[in-house]
Amino acid sequence: MQHILDELARRRAQAKLGGGERRIAAQHAKGKLTARERIDLLLDEDSFEEFDMFVEHRAHEFGMADQKVPGDGVVTGWGTINGRTVYVFSKDFTVFGGSLSGAHAAKIVKVQRMAAKVGAPVIGLFDAGGARIQEGVDSLAGYADIFMENVLSSGVIPQISVIMGPCAGGDVYSPAMTDFIFMVKDTSYMYVTGPDVVKTVTNETVTHEDLGGARVHAQKSGVADGAFENDLEALVQVRRLVDFLPSSNREEAPARASFDNPNREEPSLDTLIPTNANKPYDMKELILKIVDEADFFEISSEYAKNIITGFARIDGETIGVVANQPQVLAGVLDIDASRKAARFVRFCDAFSIPILTLVDVPGFMPGTKQEYGGLIKHGAKLLFAYAEATVPKVTLITRKAYGGAYDVMSSKHLRGDINYAWPTAEIAVMGAKGAVEIIFRADAKDPEALAQREAEYKAQFANPFVAASRGYIDDVIMPHGSRRRIARAFKSLKTKELSNPWKKHDNIPL
Ligand code: HXC
Repeated sequence: MQHILDELARRRAQAKLGGGERRIAAQHAKGKLTARERIDLLLDEDSFEEFDMFVEHRAHEFGMADQKVPGDGVVTGWGTINGRTVYVFSKDFTVFGGSLSGAHAAKIVKVQRMAAKVGAPVIGLFDAGGARIQEGVDSLAGYADIFMENVLSSGVIPQISVIMGPCAGGDVYSPAMTDFIFMVKDTSYMYVTGPDVVKTVTNETVTHEDLGGARVHAQKSGVADGAFENDLEALVQVRRLVDFLPSSNREEAPARASFDNPNREEPSLDTLIPTNANKPYDMKELILKIVDEADFFEISSEYAKNIITGFARIDGETIGVVANQPQVLAGVLDIDASRKAARFVRFCDAFSIPILTLVDVPGFMPGTKQEYGGLIKHGAKLLFAYAEATVPKVTLITRKAYGGAYDVMSSKHLRGDINYAWPTAEIAVMGAKGAVEIIFRADAKDPEALAQREAEYKAQFANPFVAASRGYIDDVIMPHGSRRRIARAFKSLKTKELSNPWKKHDNIPL
């Protein structure tokens, strides 16, 4: 009997070595951890249960029959993060460069299907050279099988991708269909076609980093939702994110007992808004002062910084926060900000996460660049996302809420449940200066008259009371009491029930 047990131990040890000591050393030399080391850091200690450790590819061409490595370049299974089940696949670059064969794809599909059945998140750790070149169409079929599961699971279970090495060709589209993509700075890159193909087709010379590095995707393209310094930081942050999320659309996000009194007052908020309405202030200060223990997990912090999105808790319950940032482009809504926030709102709605919207927005960004880029369609995404969302929606207008942007930012008219304003709010069609220049064009050459008109307009419209008199704002609240009022608002909405008319699916302006 002992020799049978020994044989299992031997096979396991062999599988755990992946592509062998030499390739593991090469992986470490690049500043990267191995597939298994990553899983160990991601999951609770000793919680990993592996599937398919002995799976091998079935290819024969190009001498592949003699090159079989148990596990075939991906480590899969499940474990826990702070006690909650998650499914994981981790590409092993030491085995055929983590490339995808038919057998490798089937392992990933197996955990995707298990996760959907059980109702648990799937986390994919990517470090791979794309399709297994020796496998041809079986590899393409495998990718499509994975994409199919990504789509079926979208909105059912959270799907998270972490790019920790190369991620090219077929490997990019599965992450693209997941809810969040994180990258590791300097060691990861993502692109559809690499620098060599780019050179051949467009004659551009570009490095891996400049074409698809973490900074490119976290700051410019918006493909990545965050970039971290190294493997360890990325994995620790994914654990933190998972703590905020429900395991599936059938469950609520886990509540976490908080020592932060929901009635806590913040006197410093009474002076957050500068006397001069054109001066910026940091909206993040407001977020950190409202939420539990100043714990805020920001999503896409480096992209479209004129809008802030992220997860926090109030009175122990997860909320999604969307907030204009007056410090960047005065908090204007442009194409990138609209897309970023729309996707976030839809994630929250899909997973029943209530949304807090903090508004200080001068309007939509004017200009040919924006119009040619399709601001109308992209801006409509955010409008659409807020309008269709049925989760509890609490809105606080701190200062400007002008024009169409007032409507879009979770206004009462888009089924905002509880809409508050600070006394500093200015809810109007546009700013006073622009408004009088249009309606009193006849006074254009008389600066004194124009100044007088501007003062009149400000007195009449640059306040929250007109909107409050119509019931569009439920109350004008003291800034220092914001946390208490918002906490109570969400508590009162816990039993909210609302659904949209039956449809196969909507047709959001893509
Ligand atoms: C098979 C591969 C492989 C692949 C790498 N390897 N990519 N084996 N299929 N796609 C193997 C190498 O032969 C090598 O094996 C080991 O992995 C490490 O690769 P290196 O090239 O030595 O590593 P590095 O210098 O770090 O370069 C990494 C890389 C490069 C940039 C990813 O390997 C690369 O360019 N690979 C090919 C990428 C590619 O074109 N993939 C196909 C994309 S098309 P040994 O034995 O020496 O360790 C695609 C279409 C799918 O994906 C579309 C579906 C929709």
